[in-house]
Amino acid sequence: MKVLVVGSGGREHALAWKLLQSKRITGVYCVPGNGGTAVMKGCKNLPLRVDDFEGISRFLEVHGIPLVVVGPELPLSMGIADYLKDLNVMVFGPNKAGAQIEASKSWAKELMLSANVPTPKAEMFAEAETAIAYVEKQGAPIVIKADGLAAGKGVIVAQTVPEATTAIASLFQKGFSKVLVEEYLTGQEVSVLALTDGKTVRPLLPAQDHKRIGEGDTGENTGGMGAYAPAPIVTPELMSRIEREILQPTVEALVQRGIDYRGVLYAGLMITPEGTPKVLEFNCRFGDPETQAILPLLDTPLEQLFIACCEGKLAEQPPIAWKQGSAITVVASSPGYPGKYQKGLAIAGIEQAENFGAIVFHAGTKLKQQQLVTDGGRVLNVTAVGENFSVAKTKAYQGIEKIQFEGIYYRRDIGHRLVSANFLAS
Ligand code: AMP
Ligand code: GLY
Repeated sequence: MKVLVVGSGGREHALAWKLLQSKRITGVYCVPGNGGTAVMKGCKNLPLRVDDFEGISRFLEVHGIPLVVVGPELPLSMGIADYLKDLNVMVFGPNKAGAQIEASKSWAKELMLSANVPTPKAEMFAEAETAIAYVEKQGAPIVIKADGLAAGKGVIVAQTVPEATTAIASLFQKGFSKVLVEEYLTGQEVSVLALTDGKTVRPLLPAQDHKRIGEGDTGENTGGMGAYAPAPIVTPELMSRIEREILQPTVEALVQRGIDYRGVLYAGLMITPEGTPKVLEFNCRFGDPETQAILPLLDTPLEQLFIACCEGKLAEQPPIAWKQGSAITVVASSPGYPGKYQKGLAIAGIEQAENFGAIVFHAGTKLKQQQLVTDGGRVLNVTAVGENFSVAKTKAYQGIEKIQFEGIYYRRDIGHRLVSANFLAS
């Protein structure tokens, strides 16, 4: 069976890599893919844009490809699943109505409130003046969120009232028509990605992302600088609670709205100091870079799970099987990211990193006359699996040290919360 994966990041490289480990999968096409998927055995890049639904649909038809897996939120929120619905292909990823759970913060908030899903208190505003007046009344810290897809740039955690008012003014200036002003929560963040066929929910291993550019979680927000899985803060008891109080009621609320949601329901959670899980955001897709740390630990064939979701038969699947141990992924980024950065820098050392047992998932890379060069802010995801977190971490960092491109940057403290919480169990 051949599969088409939509997207070009590290997440899509990891999805293609994992799919190709199944005997049943004879080939993967990536739209448009990256420098890593271009050279991976069994994988081929297609020079199509992720929003070229017509081009994608023609390719699927001509080549008789039965399964499409959509990585990024953009094509989902533009309705790729709806577009391909009449083609007799299985699409893993929600339709446009379902993708609102990520594309519209106000819609998601309303859904959560209607289903009694724990989430911080928030108010929605269509005008800067009223939003600012509300912030002045509430005080800081407070969180300002744009109501729309903003590629990770739409959330401002304001420490002071002036910071919050500047953020509100700037979001309206950028053209967002609504902003959400949300209660600030403290605690530990964790990502729980669950597979769903619209009825049954099966969570994957919990993971922890590292969103800030600087060590010790300082500096600007990024798309994610590293991740590890499983995150031991989510004990089996807490995971049951997350299923019971968050995932299942959310899927039921989607059903009540007539939405048939088949894909990943990603809950970005804050575990408060009292141990209560609350939803900061939902995403309608796999997380990046969480996926790069989760999938290497998966034992169940990935396409089997995707097909079960597409066919509405997830409840019939045996429990998802996982390898023992931990995985970590460290992101190597371009100098200057998340601000302006240069592209086209020559990359070397990937094979040496792999010789140390690391798996290198590409993100912003491309092949230019047979030379691998940087082509994005987040360039590579150096991943390693080990019998415990320390072993995985050592392997990943030994690997990333071998990789070279001018100005390469990576955080040296991925998993620091695990270390400081003394969670380093074997
Ligand atoms: P989001 O895109 O909604 O996940 O927000 C990006 C980041 O902002 C999150 O990963 C958190 O670190 C932070 N954040 C979002 N909402 C809140 C909140 N209500 N309280 C504290 N931090 C938040
Ligand atoms: N890792 C954060 C995200 O995928 O949105």
